[in-house]
Amino acid sequence: NWTPDSFVETTVQELKDQLGNDKVVLGLSGGVDSSVAGVLLNKAIGKNLTCIFVDNGLLRKNEFEDVLHSYEDMGLNVIGVDARKKFWDDLAGVTDPEQKRKIIGRNFIEVFDEEAHKIQDVKWLAQGTIYPDVIESVSVNGPSATIKSHHNVGGLPEKMKLKVVEPLKLLFKDEVRRVGAALNIKKELLGRHPFPGPGLGIRILGDVTPEKVSMLQEADAIFINGLKNWGLYDEVWQAGVMLLPVQSVGVMGDERTYENTVALRAVTSTDGMTADWVHLPYDFMAKMSNEIINKVRGINRVVYDISSKPPATIEWE
Ligand code: XMP
Repeated sequence: NWTPDSFVETTVQELKDQLGNDKVVLGLSGGVDSSVAGVLLNKAIGKNLTCIFVDNGLLRKNEFEDVLHSYEDMGLNVIGVDARKKFWDDLAGVTDPEQKRKIIGRNFIEVFDEEAHKIQDVKWLAQGTIYPDVIESVSVNGPSATIKSHHNVGGLPEKMKLKVVEPLKLLFKDEVRRVGAALNIKKELLGRHPFPGPGLGIRILGDVTPEKVSMLQEADAIFINGLKNWGLYDEVWQAGVMLLPVQSVGVMGDERTYENTVALRAVTSTDGMTADWVHLPYDFMAKMSNEIINKVRGINRVVYDISSKPPATIEWE
């Protein structure tokens, strides 16, 4: 019978047998899956594992530094790459959501590939793929393929000519969390909400600019910290803020303003396939709205998204 401890023990042994003294590279995202994969591989092969964490300029506020430090604290051999400018440059003027996804995915592969080539004799690419990803990427050949191109799986191995190792391939999300706990990974990391690969790039509707990114980062940080401080974070499956391409009139002191609108989104779900909006307390929403409008320059209106999936999706792009 399956237990997290027995999974860790068996998998570490299997990884040792399979990888021997080979060098392995892994892309970390700050998410649960890649982090658990990293710690597991580190346990099996130690310094023969190099982890790469890319700042694509579309992460949450302080995310790059915070996550990089916690990986270092966990003893991982991790390289942080600041590629913000490359992503922002390539996204300039692009408004189509799928086009944005393609650019972000392609840039990630390029940056990752360049870093991986600096590691001598690397033979394996490790991925934090979990069972639902496997199923989803099978359906990439099916009709749902054109709905959204997820870039978690695919692309990299072909380009890099590396063998692939996916130690979490047969696990569901809750099992990955339990394995992570057995590996002593911090609760804050294991309980994190999902965050899309293209990051804030698909939460800025329309074209992406560094100014919009930092505006959205501020609003998002207020909302996410608010959820944590009010004890609501763990009751929500995923939350975030969308920066809308809508300007509207407001007043600030004696001045008339004409500024941006953000939409707050918080949903419950089990797998992201269906989702319901969360009935957040009015007091909480009032506080968030005031704080965002008062503290984030360029935002003068906050709305709450009360759409379920289907027919709406969780992300707005
Ligand atoms: P939607 O918006 O389709 O989102 O209801 C369902 C879940 O998938 C995430 N998502 C993505 N994740 N690359 C990703 O890695 C993407 O392009 C992408 N699009 C959506 C979304 O955050 C939610 O958890």
